[in-house]
This record gives sequence, C-alpha cells and structure tokens, in this order.
Amino acid sequence: MASWKLVTFLAVAVSCTSALEVRHVRSSRVSAASTTELPTAPFSIALTDKAPRSSYKKQLLRELRSGGKSKTAVVDGSGDDEEYLTDIVVGGQSFKVIVDTGSSDTWLADKGFKCFTLDNSPQPAADCFFGTTGFDTSKSKTFVPLPDTNFNISYGDGEFLTGSVGFDTVTVGGLTVTRQEIGVVTAAAWEGDSINTGLMGLAFPDLTSVYNGSNPDLDGADNSLPYNPFFFSAVQQKAVSTPVFSVALNRGTFAHQANTTFDPDLGFLAFGGIAPVAVTKRSATVPVQGFATSSGGSEFFYYAVDIDALVFPGSTAKTTIKAPTIIDTGTTLNYVPTNIAKAFNARFDPPATFVEDEDTYYVDCNATAPAFSAKIGGVEFAVDGRDQILPFLDENNDLVCISGTQDGGPDEDDTIFIFGDVFLHNVVATFDISKNDIILTERASY
Ligand SMILES: *[C@@H]1O[C@H](CO)[C@@H](O)[C@H](O)[C@H]1NC(C)=O
Ligand SMILES: *[C@@H]1O[C@H](CO)[C@@H](O)[C@H](O)[C@H]1NC(C)=O
Ligand SMILES: *[C@@H]1O[C@H](CO)[C@@H](O)[C@H](O)[C@H]1NC(C)=O
Ligand SMILES: *[C@@H]1O[C@H](CO)[C@@H](O)[C@H](O)[C@H]1NC(C)=O
Repeated sequence: MASWKLVTFLAVAVSCTSALEVRHVRSSRVSAASTTELPTAPFSIALTDKAPRSSYKKQLLRELRSGGKSKTAVVDGSGDDEEYLTDIVVGGQSFKVIVDTGSSDTWLADKGFKCFTLDNSPQPAADCFFGTTGFDTSKSKTFVPLPDTNFNISYGDGEFLTGSVGFDTVTVGGLTVTRQEIGVVTAAAWEGDSINTGLMGLAFPDLTSVYNGSNPDLDGADNSLPYNPFFFSAVQQKAVSTPVFSVALNRGTFAHQANTTFDPDLGFLAFGGIAPVAVTKRSATVPVQGFATSSGGSEFFYYAVDIDALVFPGSTAKTTIKAPTIIDTGTTLNYVPTNIAKAFNARFDPPATFVEDEDTYYVDCNATAPAFSAKIGGVEFAVDGRDQILPFLDENNDLVCISGTQDGGPDEDDTIFIFGDVFLHNVVATFDISKNDIILTERASY
C-alpha cells in the first residue's frame, strides 16, 4: 500500500512572535571559493526511513495547505521514503525518533501518556501510533525531573504535545550527553507512524519549548525557559571536538517511496564532522540568518539561509527569494514563493497542475522534471529530477504524483520558506553551531 503523509515538524516559534520581523542581521559572506575543511565525523549513525499509514493522506494534505499559508508555522511534508528516523537511548531505554532540524526539543512519549485528536478530543492511546508504549522514567536510573515547569510544543501541521520536563543521559550515534533536558510527553495530539516514540530537535536553544510553571495554558514568551538542545549540550560538555553536525539524506527509490513501511540505511546523521558519503568539490559556507532583537542583537531559531536565486528553464531575475529559507530535514518537499512555484511547475513536461482545494501541485508520474538549482552562497546546487516527482496512492489506490516543489505562500518579510528533503537529497548539510554557519557540499551523484 503506497501512502503519503504530509506532516510538519517545524516548531512554532512561540518565543519570537514579538520579533517576527525577519531581518538579515548577518551579512551574507559569499563564499563561492570557500573550501571549508571538514573533519570526518567521529560519531555517526545510519538513518532509517519509514512509511506512515495511508489513511492520513487527505487530512495531512489539508494541513499542508493551512501550514503553507501560515506565517510562523511553515509546512513539512513527509512521505513514504521521506521521514528520517534515528535510534536514541534515553536513560537506558531505546527508541526511534524523528530527526528534525526544524525544531529544538528532544522529547519522548511518557509511559501512560494520553492521546488526543488534532481538535483536542480524547482518543485511545493506540490512535497516536507511537512505536512503543513510551518512556518509563521510573525505570531510568539517571532521570531527574525538573519540577514546576512544563513542556508545550505545537508543530506547524497542527500536532501538539504537552508534558513534564526532566534531565537524562541521551545517546545518539555513539555520542552521549549527560543531564540532557528533555520533554516527557503526557498529552499528545500526534499522528505517528507506529515506529517513532518521539523526536530529536537539532535547531537553536531559543526555539525550545519549556515553560516556567505547571499550567500549559499560561505558556508564552514571558515564561519561556530556553535550554541547550542535545547537540548544544554535547558541544558544551566537550563530547565532540568540532562543533558541527551533518546530515546526508539519501533519496529512496520511486518504488520505495510509493510503498515501504521501513527502509533502513537511508543516510547519515553525523556529529563532530561531515556525514560519510561521497561529495564533490562544490561547496558553499553561508551564515544562518537570525532575527533581530529589540536590544539590537540577533537571535537564532531555525537554520534559515538566504537563497541568491532559483534557476530553472524560464527563471528570471525575479526568481529570487527575499525571505529566508529553512534547511529542514523534517520536511519532505521544497516550499518556495507562490510566483516561483507557479513558474517552475509549468515547466514539467507535461506541466504540473495545481489542485486548488488541496493547494498542491500534482504532476504526471511519467513527466519530465525541469532542471532546477538553487544558488546559495554564490554556488549553484542542482536538485535531481528524481526528487521532483513524488509518488503515492490516492484513496482509490491509484498511483498519483505530486511535485517536489510546492507553493509556500507569498514572499513577504515575515515569511519563511523551506528546503526539505527534495533539496537535501542532493547535498550534505553541515551545521556549525559555534559560527552559526551552514556548509553545503554537493553529493556525488547516486
Ligand atoms: C506494498 O508492500 C506490501 C508489503 O511490503 C505488499 O504486500 C504489497 O503488495 C505492495 N503493494 C504494491 C502496490 O506494490
Ligand atoms: C518561575 O516563576 C516563579 C513565580 O513567578 C518565579 O519565582 C521563579 O523565579 C521562576 N523561575 C524561573 C526559573 O524563572
Ligand atoms: C500550551 O498548551 C496549551 C494547551 O494545550 C495551548 O493552548 C497553548 O497554545 C500552548 N502554548 C504554547 C506556547 O505552546
Ligand atoms: C507511465 O509509464 C509506465 C511504464 O513506464 C506505464 O505503465 C504507465 O501507464 C504510465 N503512466 C501514465 C500516466 O502515462
């Protein structure tokens, strides 16, 4: 059964809603000639991949639409070969979690969690489709609760979770962090895949979702208690010598994308160096774009970068993106400004068609995708045509395909666009959290 799930694992940046105006506070250091030397990672872990259940497709397409129009909560898509998971050990217990550069918290469902629908009605725990019965804090010898606080996160697709907070020993890919702050989810509106039990967020401390007090209804920017996410803790604890993590997300095959439930070895998450896959010499180092604070400094939430231009047949000088674009492993598709999505999708042969009530570009599964590349930091990174046509089965079990590049809304100052797995299949993305740089390196073709 092929299926599609479009989800959003981009955290809603609650604490920055007062400073939503994005300013490009760091000037772009154009580095076409830059050759950032990256060490091979001492810690790395193979990523796996799974296919969610088909019944959610329609609902999730609806969420794709609403998310795409939202200002702070931009959309992630996830499909059969497009949601990347990693193994994590917390307090001696093993789980699989979603790898997400679009949010910052690492959380697990608590044993005994309560499950809710997206419109907040109680439902059986099984309907949240976690992969295990949850994290048992009482069985962890290292878990320490953080009283009088709460964990409270919403993702752009409408999933939301609340719970308590604590510290525990966390290991991913051989890298161990002690006393890592984590969310322990006691109430979940979650549409799981029957494999993951939570999520690992890799974005910045200011995007974390722990709040002072025990009543989630009172949460907001004023009582937010930012903390160091897993990799920030690893750097602080000197568990890695180079403050970078790196992801290489392999594309699955067309057949796998249309019909897999679990697909092991689909890339790498590496800590302390570059992910171990073949790359070319084409590379660019670009600054992460922060948000301006009222005090004149800058604050970092997402891995947002400036894109110089999108290049495809018929693209013009107008085909640039003013707003920053987030490099997000938790997103399957690329979301670009409306005018660019329209111009690009017209260039498939035959052209993609926009289905208004789903706000989605569909494309013939046998279409030829137009050439496409993104110029970032002065360097053009091509996206393989195989990444631009994504198959799934519709409600009649017919194979249909959607375009890899969708409408992310108008290009306005307070918008954020996304480059998801469609882009990330073609590069190794390495995130330097001390310099706040992203190093993109073209992958050798595969
Ligand atoms: C999809 O995979 C399942 C299980 O692996 C298999 O039983 C089924 O026949 C496959 N369906 C198609 C359309 O390939
Ligand atoms: C949490 O709120 C209480 C009551 O307002 C306050 O006394 C305390 O200092 C706050 N804790 C933190 C860590 O900010
Ligand atoms: C916290 O949780 C409550 C209850 O689920 C929700 O209404 C509220 O929007 C959440 N606040 C934040 C900041 O996430
Ligand atoms: C696409 O090509 C396959 C064979 O490669 C064929 O079976 C299928 O009918 C074609 N689909 C369309 C919509 O033309």
